[in-house]
Amino acid sequence: MSEKNSYRPIGIFDSGFGGLTVLKEIVKELPQHDFLYLGDNARAPYGSRSYETVYEYTLQCVTHLFNMGCSLVVLACNTASAKALRTIQQKDLPIIAPQNRVLGVIRPTTEIIGNYSKSGKVGVLGTAGTVSSGSYLVEIEKFFPELKVYQQACPMLVPLIENNECTNAGAEFFIKKYVDGLMAQEKNIDAIILGCTHYPLIEQQIKKYLPAGITLLSQGPIIAKGLKDYLQRHPEMDSRCSKNGSVSFFTTDQPETFDKAATLFYGGPVQSKQLEL
Ligand code: DGL
Repeated sequence: MSEKNSYRPIGIFDSGFGGLTVLKEIVKELPQHDFLYLGDNARAPYGSRSYETVYEYTLQCVTHLFNMGCSLVVLACNTASAKALRTIQQKDLPIIAPQNRVLGVIRPTTEIIGNYSKSGKVGVLGTAGTVSSGSYLVEIEKFFPELKVYQQACPMLVPLIENNECTNAGAEFFIKKYVDGLMAQEKNIDAIILGCTHYPLIEQQIKKYLPAGITLLSQGPIIAKGLKDYLQRHPEMDSRCSKNGSVSFFTTDQPETFDKAATLFYGGPVQSKQLEL
């Protein structure tokens, strides 16, 4: 078997660093698999971009991951999952790679959110793009039609986190503003989805501004369990993934800059290579 055929990593994609919080948990759950992470840092953030742009960028990155040997790609980005996943699954995949699969992060989260709420009122914090897409409302309705969902767009958070400015007074101001904005819509919210893969880095700060007793759901562990479950239910897909326990990192921007910040998100050393789009 040639190197190209024997190396079939699972692709993990994000606009930048956020997907690393998901990759970290996936690697714990599936340590034997090979993973290839791609951060489109040169064009991040995606959160404020149009449908067309997010779709175009995401499809381009997914196609690169396919060309690098991935049969299965996880969009570890809510914005890309909200704005590009369905079109890629329904329109592009049948043409460019009918045997390959692309999964997102919104569905696995919405499948379980109802189990964490007694009041029947849940919140979603996300990028402007994720919130305006209405994807969480649509998906939660499918699994828990009785739940009332309240959303809050947090446009300043990804830039603050990406620039490592999330512990200063300016960041605290915006975190409090967004948390207050969500709770002002409904004071009985008792479960909140961190609907952006960057937000686990500020989970403790978000908690600080919430009333006690509210469950805050980070996506990493949910996606990791969901992916393991998916591979068990789809052995034909699992057999197309190689298992040498390797993790490789690619960025569309400067590797040196990526590696420094990526370590914070991944919780371990990262050495990336640049991918020219
Ligand atoms: N991590 C991405 C998400 O989950 C951030 C999007 C962005 O680049 O703004 O939505």
